[in-house]
Amino acid sequence: MKPVLLLCSTTDGQTRKICERLQHRLQDAGVTVVLTMIEHAREVSPSDYSLLVVGARIRYGHTDGRVIEFANRCAALLNAMPSAFFSVNIVARKPGKDRPETNPYVQKFLQRVAWRPRLREVFAGRLDYPRYGPLDRNLIRFIMWMTDGPTDPSAQVEFTDWHRVDAFAQALCAAVRA
Ligand SMILES: Cc1cc2nc3c(=O)[nH]c(=O)nc-3n(C[C@H](O)[C@H](O)[C@H](O)COP(=O)(O)O)c2cc1C
Repeated sequence: MKPVLLLCSTTDGQTRKICERLQHRLQDAGVTVVLTMIEHAREVSPSDYSLLVVGARIRYGHTDGRVIEFANRCAALLNAMPSAFFSVNIVARKPGKDRPETNPYVQKFLQRVAWRPRLREVFAGRLDYPRYGPLDRNLIRFIMWMTDGPTDPSAQVEFTDWHRVDAFAQALCAAVRA
């Protein structure tokens, strides 16, 4: 069977951590997985894979332009094969914005691309103030203050629900085997 491709867009590493968890769960189930960073998207041939999964972080309201470009350039191929998309953002920590149907970034992404991923998910990401530069730290603190999130500049909080990541891995396994 052809391998599964996990194509990952990350800046601070949380989306990569989620991709690696998915990779391990799929490998535990006997599936061969290739993990590739979005920087190499131009070298990807979707037809080499049984399932193509894209995971993309959000920064200042935006999905990486290279993810949008890949999704539009390969839309015809992707729409003809099993495929999945997940977004990683902080808004998804909020009940009511924590499902692909209700998360504004997943919906915005789907409006911008011709790709129609069969599986869609959203995961809450990680907040890591000490890691950010002063400008990003203060802007994110301001956004957190407005949305009842942590504002202590030393806060490091992982909001990701790993049970949900594992459930998504199971759904990916089922898609490969279908
Ligand atoms: C500079 C910056 C801007 C961000 N902008 C947003 C945003 O607009 N909306 C949101 O929900 N999360 C936002 N986040 C939170 C990230 O999506 C979250 O930290 C995620 O885990 C980042 O994924 P990564 O570690 O794979 O880069 C932002 C984080 C940073 C550092």
